Amino acid sequence: MPLVSMRQLLDEAAKGGYGVGAFNVNNMEQIQAIMEAAKETQSPVIIQASRGARAFAQDRYLYHLILAASELYPEIPLAMHLDHGNSFDTCKSAIELGFTSVMMDGSLREDGKTPNTFEENLDVTRRVVDFAHERGITVEGEIGVLGGVEDGHGAGGTGLEHLTNPDQAVEFAEKTGVDALAIAIGTSHGAYKFSKKPDGSVLKMDLLIAIHNRLPKTHLVMHGSSSVPKDLQDVINQYGGKLKQTWGVPVEEIQLGIRNGVRKVNVDTDNRLAITGAIRKVLWETPEKFDPRDYLKPARAAMQKVVATRMTQFGQAGHASDYAAVSIAQIQQGYKDGTLSTRPKAAK
Ligand code: 13P
Repeated sequence: MPLVSMRQLLDEAAKGGYGVGAFNVNNMEQIQAIMEAAKETQSPVIIQASRGARAFAQDRYLYHLILAASELYPEIPLAMHLDHGNSFDTCKSAIELGFTSVMMDGSLREDGKTPNTFEENLDVTRRVVDFAHERGITVEGEIGVLGGVEDGHGAGGTGLEHLTNPDQAVEFAEKTGVDALAIAIGTSHGAYKFSKKPDGSVLKMDLLIAIHNRLPKTHLVMHGSSSVPKDLQDVINQYGGKLKQTWGVPVEEIQLGIRNGVRKVNVDTDNRLAITGAIRKVLWETPEKFDPRDYLKPARAAMQKVVATRMTQFGQAGHASDYAAVSIAQIQQGYKDGTLSTRPKAAK
Protein backbone atom coordinates (compact mmCIF):
# COMPACT_ATOMS: atom_id res chain seq x y z
CA MET A 1 0.00 0.00 0.00
CA PRO A 2 1.33 3.49 -0.73
CA LEU A 3 1.74 5.83 2.23
CA VAL A 4 -1.76 6.96 3.13
CA SER A 5 -3.28 10.13 4.45
CA MET A 6 -3.46 10.26 8.25
CA ARG A 7 -6.92 11.75 7.82
CA GLN A 8 -8.11 8.51 6.25
CA LEU A 9 -6.68 6.47 9.13
CA LEU A 10 -8.35 8.68 11.72
CA ASP A 11 -11.71 8.78 9.91
CA GLU A 12 -11.66 4.98 9.78
CA ALA A 13 -10.70 4.81 13.45
CA ALA A 14 -13.66 7.06 14.31
CA LYS A 15 -15.99 4.78 12.36
CA GLY A 16 -14.58 1.73 14.14
CA GLY A 17 -14.44 3.42 17.57
CA TYR A 18 -10.74 2.75 18.15
CA GLY A 19 -7.51 4.72 18.54
CA VAL A 20 -4.37 4.58 16.41
CA GLY A 21 -0.93 4.64 18.02
CA ALA A 22 1.50 7.18 16.58
CA PHE A 23 4.97 5.93 17.35
CA ASN A 24 8.10 8.08 17.12
CA VAL A 25 11.14 6.90 15.19
CA ASN A 26 14.75 7.94 14.70
CA ASN A 27 16.24 4.91 12.99
CA MET A 28 15.65 1.75 10.97
CA GLU A 29 15.28 -0.65 13.90
CA GLN A 30 12.41 1.36 15.38
CA ILE A 31 10.60 1.40 12.03
CA GLN A 32 11.11 -2.35 11.70
CA ALA A 33 9.79 -2.93 15.22
CA ILE A 34 6.62 -0.93 14.49
CA MET A 35 5.97 -2.65 11.18
CA GLU A 36 6.47 -6.12 12.62
CA ALA A 37 4.08 -5.24 15.44
CA ALA A 38 1.56 -3.92 12.88
CA LYS A 39 1.85 -7.14 10.89
CA GLU A 40 1.58 -9.30 14.00
CA THR A 41 -1.59 -7.51 15.13
CA GLN A 42 -2.89 -6.51 11.67
CA SER A 43 -3.03 -2.83 12.61
CA PRO A 44 -3.08 0.40 10.64
CA VAL A 45 -0.34 2.65 12.00
CA ILE A 46 1.14 6.13 12.15
CA ILE A 47 4.90 6.52 12.15
CA GLN A 48 6.01 9.96 13.24
CA ALA A 49 9.28 11.85 13.23
CA SER A 50 10.01 14.97 15.24
CA ARG A 51 12.34 17.77 14.19
CA GLY A 52 14.94 16.16 16.43
CA ALA A 53 14.54 12.85 14.61
CA ARG A 54 14.79 14.55 11.24
CA ALA A 55 18.01 16.24 12.32
CA PHE A 56 19.44 13.08 13.89
CA ALA A 57 18.77 10.75 10.97
CA GLN A 58 18.77 13.29 8.13
CA ASP A 59 15.19 13.25 7.00
CA ARG A 60 15.79 11.76 3.57
CA TYR A 61 16.97 8.60 5.32
CA LEU A 62 13.82 8.57 7.43
CA TYR A 63 11.59 9.19 4.44
CA HIS A 64 13.11 6.37 2.42
CA LEU A 65 13.09 3.97 5.36
CA ILE A 66 9.40 4.62 5.92
CA LEU A 67 8.74 4.31 2.19
CA ALA A 68 10.53 0.95 2.29
CA ALA A 69 8.22 -0.06 5.14
CA SER A 70 5.15 0.75 3.04
CA GLU A 71 6.56 -1.39 0.19
CA LEU A 72 7.49 -4.30 2.44
CA TYR A 73 4.15 -4.34 4.26
CA PRO A 74 1.64 -3.56 1.50
CA GLU A 75 -1.26 -4.80 3.62
CA ILE A 76 -0.67 -2.22 6.38
CA PRO A 77 -2.21 1.27 6.05
CA LEU A 78 0.68 3.53 7.07
CA ALA A 79 0.76 7.31 7.48
CA MET A 80 3.99 9.27 7.81
CA HIS A 81 3.57 12.19 10.17
CA LEU A 82 5.68 15.15 11.30
CA ASP A 83 5.53 15.43 15.09
CA HIS A 84 5.59 18.99 16.55
CA GLY A 85 6.42 21.12 13.54
CA ASN A 86 7.50 24.48 14.98
CA SER A 87 6.86 26.72 11.96
CA PHE A 88 5.22 27.00 8.57
CA ASP A 89 8.59 26.31 6.91
CA THR A 90 9.21 23.13 8.92
CA CYS A 91 5.79 21.79 7.90
CA LYS A 92 6.30 22.85 4.29
CA SER A 93 9.64 21.07 4.08
CA ALA A 94 8.12 17.86 5.48
CA ILE A 95 5.26 18.03 2.98
CA GLU A 96 7.67 18.63 0.13
CA LEU A 97 9.72 15.64 1.25
CA GLY A 98 6.71 13.31 1.17
CA PHE A 99 5.18 13.21 4.66
CA THR A 100 1.44 12.51 4.35
CA SER A 101 0.62 14.41 7.53
CA VAL A 102 2.08 17.21 9.62
CA MET A 103 1.57 18.64 13.07
CA MET A 104 1.77 22.40 13.29
CA ASP A 105 2.39 22.96 16.96
CA GLY A 106 1.48 26.61 17.10
CA SER A 107 0.90 26.37 20.85
CA LEU A 108 4.55 27.38 21.11
CA ARG A 109 6.57 30.02 19.32
CA GLU A 110 9.06 28.98 16.68
CA ASP A 111 11.70 28.50 19.41
CA GLY A 112 9.65 25.48 20.51
CA LYS A 113 9.68 26.70 24.12
CA THR A 114 7.70 29.90 24.62
CA PRO A 115 3.89 29.64 24.76
CA ASN A 116 2.24 31.43 21.85
CA THR A 117 -0.80 33.67 21.91
CA PHE A 118 -4.08 32.18 20.71
CA GLU A 119 -4.13 34.56 17.72
CA GLU A 120 -0.58 33.64 16.65
CA ASN A 121 -1.41 29.95 16.96
CA LEU A 122 -4.52 30.45 14.85
CA ASP A 123 -2.63 32.37 12.21
CA VAL A 124 0.26 29.96 11.69
CA THR A 125 -1.95 26.85 11.88
CA ARG A 126 -4.39 28.28 9.36
CA ARG A 127 -1.55 28.97 6.94
CA VAL A 128 -0.28 25.39 7.27
CA VAL A 129 -3.80 23.98 6.78
CA ASP A 130 -4.23 26.00 3.57
CA PHE A 131 -0.87 24.85 2.20
CA ALA A 132 -1.30 21.21 3.28
CA HIS A 133 -4.92 20.69 2.25
CA GLU A 134 -4.22 22.06 -1.23
CA ARG A 135 -1.85 19.08 -1.51
CA GLY A 136 -4.05 16.47 0.18
CA ILE A 137 -1.95 16.43 3.35
CA THR A 138 -3.41 16.06 6.87
CA VAL A 139 -2.82 18.65 9.61
CA GLU A 140 -2.83 18.23 13.37
CA GLY A 141 -2.94 21.39 15.48
CA GLU A 142 -2.50 21.95 19.19
CA ILE A 143 -4.44 24.12 21.57
CA GLY A 144 -3.26 24.53 25.15
CA VAL A 145 0.35 23.63 25.95
CA LEU A 146 1.66 20.20 26.95
CA GLY A 147 4.13 19.76 29.76
CA GLY A 148 7.69 18.45 29.59
CA VAL A 149 10.31 18.65 26.87
CA GLU A 150 10.87 16.16 24.05
CA ASP A 151 13.87 16.36 21.75
CA GLY A 152 14.41 19.94 22.90
CA HIS A 153 10.79 20.87 22.09
CA GLY A 154 8.42 21.86 24.87
CA ALA A 155 7.57 24.48 27.44
CA GLY A 156 8.57 22.25 30.38
CA GLY A 157 6.41 22.17 33.48
CA THR A 158 3.84 19.62 34.60
CA GLY A 159 1.29 20.12 31.87
CA LEU A 160 -1.20 21.79 34.22
CA GLU A 161 -0.01 25.32 33.49
CA HIS A 162 -1.76 25.75 30.13
CA LEU A 163 -4.71 23.36 29.99
CA THR A 164 -6.91 23.57 26.91
CA ASN A 165 -9.84 25.94 27.20
CA PRO A 166 -12.89 24.23 25.56
CA ASP A 167 -14.22 27.52 24.11
CA GLN A 168 -10.86 28.16 22.48
CA ALA A 169 -10.75 24.58 21.20
CA VAL A 170 -14.09 25.09 19.43
CA GLU A 171 -13.01 28.43 17.96
CA PHE A 172 -9.66 26.96 16.90
CA ALA A 173 -11.26 23.96 15.17
CA GLU A 174 -13.73 26.23 13.38
CA LYS A 175 -11.21 28.83 12.25
CA THR A 176 -8.33 26.54 11.26
CA GLY A 177 -10.09 23.48 9.81
CA VAL A 178 -7.43 21.15 11.28
CA ASP A 179 -8.01 17.42 10.78
CA ALA A 180 -6.94 16.49 14.30
CA LEU A 181 -6.55 18.44 17.50
CA ALA A 182 -4.00 17.85 20.25
CA ILE A 183 -5.23 19.04 23.62
CA ALA A 184 -3.51 19.70 26.93
CA ILE A 185 -5.12 17.72 29.75
CA GLY A 186 -2.18 17.40 32.13
CA THR A 187 0.02 15.00 30.18
CA SER A 188 3.62 15.79 29.38
CA HIS A 189 6.36 14.36 27.22
CA GLY A 190 9.08 12.14 28.63
CA ALA A 191 9.39 9.62 31.46
CA TYR A 192 8.67 11.94 34.40
CA LYS A 193 4.98 12.72 34.05
CA PHE A 194 3.50 12.01 37.46
CA SER A 195 4.98 11.36 40.92
CA LYS A 196 2.28 8.78 41.72
CA LYS A 197 -0.50 6.99 39.85
CA PRO A 198 -2.39 9.97 38.37
CA ASP A 199 -5.90 10.85 39.47
CA GLY A 200 -8.28 13.50 38.18
CA SER A 201 -6.39 16.28 39.97
CA VAL A 202 -3.45 15.94 37.56
CA LEU A 203 -4.82 14.02 34.58
CA LYS A 204 -7.90 15.88 33.42
CA MET A 205 -9.96 13.29 31.60
CA ASP A 206 -13.08 15.29 32.51
CA LEU A 207 -11.69 18.16 30.45
CA LEU A 208 -11.08 15.81 27.51
CA ILE A 209 -14.67 14.60 27.72
CA ALA A 210 -15.96 18.18 27.91
CA ILE A 211 -14.00 19.08 24.77
CA HIS A 212 -15.22 15.97 22.96
CA ASN A 213 -18.83 16.86 23.83
CA ARG A 214 -18.31 20.29 22.27
CA LEU A 215 -16.42 18.89 19.25
CA PRO A 216 -17.86 15.42 18.66
CA LYS A 217 -16.61 15.22 15.06
CA THR A 218 -13.04 16.37 15.74
CA HIS A 219 -10.35 13.71 16.04
CA LEU A 220 -8.62 14.36 19.36
CA VAL A 221 -4.94 13.57 19.92
CA MET A 222 -3.40 12.55 23.22
CA HIS A 223 0.26 13.48 23.41
CA GLY A 224 2.53 12.30 26.21
CA SER A 225 0.66 8.99 26.32
CA SER A 226 3.39 6.62 27.39
CA SER A 227 2.36 4.52 30.34
CA VAL A 228 5.96 4.25 31.63
CA PRO A 229 5.38 0.73 32.99
CA LYS A 230 7.29 -0.22 36.11
CA ASP A 231 8.65 -3.41 34.55
CA LEU A 232 10.40 -1.38 31.82
CA GLN A 233 11.85 0.99 34.45
CA ASP A 234 12.99 -2.00 36.50
CA VAL A 235 14.92 -3.62 33.63
CA ILE A 236 16.89 -0.41 33.10
CA ASN A 237 17.69 -0.06 36.80
CA GLN A 238 18.50 -3.76 37.19
CA TYR A 239 21.25 -3.41 34.60
CA GLY A 240 23.00 -0.30 35.84
CA GLY A 241 20.50 2.43 34.96
CA LYS A 242 19.46 5.20 37.32
CA LEU A 243 15.83 6.06 36.70
CA LYS A 244 13.84 7.58 39.52
CA GLN A 245 10.49 5.91 40.05
CA THR A 246 7.81 7.57 37.95
CA TRP A 247 4.27 7.11 36.62
CA GLY A 248 2.86 7.55 33.13
CA VAL A 249 -0.66 7.61 31.73
CA PRO A 250 -2.52 4.42 32.70
CA VAL A 251 -3.76 2.49 29.67
CA GLU A 252 -7.32 2.50 31.05
CA GLU A 253 -7.30 6.34 30.97
CA ILE A 254 -6.20 6.24 27.32
CA GLN A 255 -9.01 3.79 26.63
CA LEU A 256 -11.44 6.19 28.31
CA GLY A 257 -10.08 8.87 25.98
CA ILE A 258 -10.60 6.60 22.97
CA ARG A 259 -14.24 6.14 23.99
CA ASN A 260 -14.44 9.95 23.96
CA GLY A 261 -13.03 11.00 20.61
CA VAL A 262 -9.29 10.29 20.92
CA ARG A 263 -8.16 8.82 17.61
CA LYS A 264 -4.38 9.35 17.72
CA VAL A 265 -2.29 8.31 20.69
CA ASN A 266 1.35 9.43 20.78
CA VAL A 267 3.89 7.05 22.28
CA ASP A 268 7.64 7.50 22.31
CA THR A 269 9.01 7.12 25.85
CA ASP A 270 7.77 3.54 26.42
CA ASN A 271 9.68 2.43 23.33
CA ARG A 272 12.80 4.30 24.40
CA LEU A 273 12.63 2.54 27.76
CA ALA A 274 12.16 -0.88 26.16
CA ILE A 275 15.09 -0.37 23.80
CA THR A 276 17.43 0.95 26.48
CA GLY A 277 16.55 -1.84 28.91
CA ALA A 278 17.21 -4.53 26.30
CA ILE A 279 20.56 -3.02 25.29
CA ARG A 280 21.66 -2.59 28.91
CA LYS A 281 20.81 -6.20 29.66
CA VAL A 282 22.95 -7.57 26.82
CA LEU A 283 25.92 -5.32 27.58
CA TRP A 284 25.68 -6.05 31.32
CA GLU A 285 25.35 -9.81 31.00
CA THR A 286 27.78 -10.32 28.13
CA PRO A 287 30.33 -7.49 28.27
CA GLU A 288 32.53 -9.31 25.77
CA LYS A 289 30.01 -8.68 22.94
CA PHE A 290 30.69 -5.91 20.46
CA ASP A 291 28.58 -6.68 17.38
CA PRO A 292 25.78 -4.05 17.37
CA ARG A 293 23.35 -6.69 16.12
CA ASP A 294 23.79 -8.57 19.39
CA TYR A 295 22.01 -5.77 21.24
CA LEU A 296 19.99 -4.15 18.46
CA LYS A 297 18.05 -7.36 17.76
CA PRO A 298 16.79 -7.73 21.35
CA ALA A 299 16.18 -3.97 21.44
CA ARG A 300 14.04 -4.21 18.33
CA ALA A 301 12.16 -7.20 19.73
CA ALA A 302 11.53 -5.39 23.03
CA MET A 303 10.08 -2.39 21.19
CA GLN A 304 7.95 -4.64 18.97
CA LYS A 305 6.43 -6.18 22.10
CA VAL A 306 5.51 -2.78 23.56
CA VAL A 307 4.06 -1.54 20.26
CA ALA A 308 2.03 -4.71 19.64
CA THR A 309 0.64 -4.51 23.18
CA ARG A 310 -0.39 -0.88 22.70
CA MET A 311 -1.97 -1.66 19.31
CA THR A 312 -4.16 -4.24 20.98
CA GLN A 313 -4.98 -1.94 23.90
CA PHE A 314 -5.85 1.00 21.63
CA GLY A 315 -8.18 -1.23 19.59
CA GLN A 316 -6.51 -0.76 16.20
CA ALA A 317 -5.49 -4.45 16.07
CA GLY A 318 -7.36 -6.38 13.41
CA HIS A 319 -8.34 -3.27 11.42
CA ALA A 320 -5.55 -3.23 8.78
CA SER A 321 -7.66 -4.81 6.09
CA ASP A 322 -10.92 -2.92 6.77
CA TYR A 323 -10.32 -0.52 3.92
CA ALA A 324 -8.30 0.21 0.78
CA ALA A 325 -6.03 3.24 0.53
CA VAL A 326 -7.65 6.40 -0.74
CA SER A 327 -5.13 8.24 -2.91
CA ILE A 328 -3.72 11.56 -1.76
CA ALA A 329 -5.21 13.04 -4.97
CA GLN A 330 -8.71 11.93 -3.86
CA ILE A 331 -8.15 13.37 -0.40
CA GLN A 332 -6.97 16.61 -2.04
CA GLN A 333 -10.23 16.68 -3.99
CA GLY A 334 -12.21 16.08 -0.79
CA TYR A 335 -10.63 19.14 0.82
CA LYS A 336 -11.29 21.17 -2.31
CA ASP A 337 -14.97 20.29 -2.64
CA GLY A 338 -15.59 20.57 1.10
CA THR A 339 -16.59 16.94 1.72
CA LEU A 340 -13.66 16.59 4.12
CA SER A 341 -14.35 19.81 5.98
CA THR A 342 -13.84 19.41 9.72
CA ARG A 343 -15.11 22.82 10.72
CA PRO A 344 -17.73 22.14 13.39
CA LYS A 345 -20.31 24.35 11.72
CA ALA A 346 -19.78 22.67 8.35
CA ALA A 347 -19.39 19.10 9.63
CA LYS A 348 -22.40 16.87 9.04
P1 13P B 1 5.64 10.18 25.51
O1 13P B 1 6.89 10.89 25.93
O2 13P B 1 4.67 10.02 26.63
O3 13P B 1 5.93 8.89 24.84
O4 13P B 1 4.90 11.10 24.45
C1 13P B 1 5.33 11.15 23.10
C2 13P B 1 4.65 12.22 22.34
O5 13P B 1 3.63 12.76 22.75
C3 13P B 1 5.23 12.59 21.05
O6 13P B 1 4.67 13.75 20.52
